[in-house]
Amino acid sequence: MIQRINFLRESIRNLKTTGSVARSSRFLCRRIAGKIDPEHARVVLELGPGDGAITRHLLDRLHPDAQVLVFEINDAFIDKLRTEFDDPRITLIHDSAENIGRHLEERGIQSVDYIISGIPFVMLPESLAENITEACRQWLRPGGKFIQFHYSPLLVQFYRRVFGNAAVDFIPLNIPPAFVVSCEKQ
Ligand SMILES: C[S@@+](CC[C@H](N)C(=O)[O-])C[C@H]1O[C@@H](n2cnc3c(N)ncnc32)[C@H](O)[C@@H]1O
Repeated sequence: MIQRINFLRESIRNLKTTGSVARSSRFLCRRIAGKIDPEHARVVLELGPGDGAITRHLLDRLHPDAQVLVFEINDAFIDKLRTEFDDPRITLIHDSAENIGRHLEERGIQSVDYIISGIPFVMLPESLAENITEACRQWLRPGGKFIQFHYSPLLVQFYRRVFGNAAVDFIPLNIPPAFVVSCEKQ
């Protein structure tokens, strides 16, 4: 309950970038984490983790040798993630997902297996949404997956244009009900 109230407070302060008033439900988190095949997930990016609702499910599912690079722009959420997650697999990056390329190059990472995103692209300038999504496509290995949730199916055609495919799941048990879009890099 306290986590929900803290998330609500932070979201109201930054509604344009959080795009939601509630953290993801366990039903949504489980559905997203369940899309990961732990045997083929060694490098995972999470974009826009908020206070870490999905992050925890990802860590529960991932192999001990996996690494998760987490990109978050919100100061309060980054502080919260720093205190909550004491796991050697996680690297917190206080920067916009626009800059994933620079951070991956700095670490000598050549491609990634999965990208999980909760960034509210519908609320962002179109060019920013396009730049981030295109960077995701470029950095995924062939067969790697981009998994994004939204509260409407508005952008499904956009993802189909970028990736050439997009499967959609509907998760009613979330506030608001959510759509999970999964795209595979060809
Ligand atoms: C809808 S919230 C999702 C929070 C969390 N993943 C969840 O499911 O409960 C969106 C998050 O994306 C973050 N965000 C927005 N734009 C971003 C960007 N350009 N780079 C990284 N994070 C961003 C916001 O600060 C916020 O934490």
